[in-house]
Amino acid sequence: MWPLVLTLVVATTGAYGAEVCPGLKTMYLPPQCINDRDKCPQNSTLEPASKVCNMCDGCTAYIQKDGECEPTSGISCKPGYECDEQELKCVAKSCSCQYKADNSYYKSWTPRCDGFDYAPVQCKGEKPTGRCFCFDKKGNRIFGEQLWANAENMTCACSRQVQELQDQGRKDVTLHCNEQGNYEELQCDDGLCWCAEEKTGKPISQILPENMMIMLPCYDKLNVGSAYLRQCESLLIAQKKIEIEMAAHNSRNPNFPYVNCELDGSYGAVQQDGNQMYCAWKDKSRIEGYAAELRDMANMNCRCARDKKMYGNLIQHICLGNGNYNHEQYTNNGTRYCVDADGFLDDNACPDSSVSC
Ligand SMILES: *[C@@H]1O[C@H](CO)[C@@H](O)[C@H](O)[C@H]1NC(C)=O
Ligand SMILES: *[C@@H]1O[C@H](CO)[C@@H](O)[C@H](O)[C@H]1NC(C)=O
Ligand SMILES: *[C@@H]1O[C@H](CO)[C@@H](O)[C@H](O)[C@H]1NC(C)=O
Repeated sequence: MWPLVLTLVVATTGAYGAEVCPGLKTMYLPPQCINDRDKCPQNSTLEPASKVCNMCDGCTAYIQKDGECEPTSGISCKPGYECDEQELKCVAKSCSCQYKADNSYYKSWTPRCDGFDYAPVQCKGEKPTGRCFCFDKKGNRIFGEQLWANAENMTCACSRQVQELQDQGRKDVTLHCNEQGNYEELQCDDGLCWCAEEKTGKPISQILPENMMIMLPCYDKLNVGSAYLRQCESLLIAQKKIEIEMAAHNSRNPNFPYVNCELDGSYGAVQQDGNQMYCAWKDKSRIEGYAAELRDMANMNCRCARDKKMYGNLIQHICLGNGNYNHEQYTNNGTRYCVDADGFLDDNACPDSSVSC
């Protein structure tokens, strides 16, 4: 029955033909089910099946940025944009990813947007020296980074997937992401193991029960040994399993010690020692004297401390005592400039700046 959807309707200004899907006035071009974003024609965007008559993924025509629009015409501005009622043209929604991209909002990076959302890979600075980071859809940094010059294969698909699974309520996800947020080769989760394609996570082997992990072609005895979970995460997953068990019996969580792991299974940058929080390297060892009191832990990210340890003198910025970047920096001649939480130029990052988003 779906070929009925496939009527090609050319959307010219004001004339947009019959409804293709009952109740939906958008046009679908071209007339096929499409799985590849790059195959959509100009000025259209891939939409999931849920929006295309619940039948298959397809391309929806949109009016582009600055294109003429009519609030009631039925053809929408592209995702992240809205029809400005005074100017009757498509403008970025205030404070959206597109708004920041269109308005040179940050000094050292132009956000990449994906519909309304932030794209997974965001690169700051300039190509030879800059760095790319994994971001969630809302624009928060998540696990995974790489020098821009080496980031051609970076997808952040693993970091994104773990976060989405956790947001859906799965507390005990054990997928392993590599340092750039892609998939490690060997994956185990929820009692099953498989070999994964690095960029997409697609299984490229049989999927076996965890106790048969060593049969997989990507299993490497020297690196993995007998246990898939790494030191930090085995502690974390043990806690999570108890939490899940206790929640099933309506018991309150016991007071577990603080455990902070990265998605590659290593220790996170912020660690606890009694009443003190400190900045740690991947093996939990302290990075110099960077520390803060327990009550200040929410503001602590240790990104400056970690970067200094990783890149040495390449990082000239001053760190705060808690290991974060100091947002206010000064050049040798005393000129003030501002950097964001990742140490990149950003005029909006100083405490006294008048940020509107
Ligand atoms: C896409 O949009 C741009 C800007 O609105 C317009 O100039 C161009 O003709 C459009 N292309 C197609 C194929 O409709
Ligand atoms: C990206 O992937 C290709 C193909 O696997 C590989 O040849 C290339 O070295 C990779 N680039 C980097 C920077 O790792
Ligand atoms: C200070 O140095 C910066 C570059 O580091 C330069 O742009 C600025 O003009 C200098 N200011 C003064 C007062 O010399």
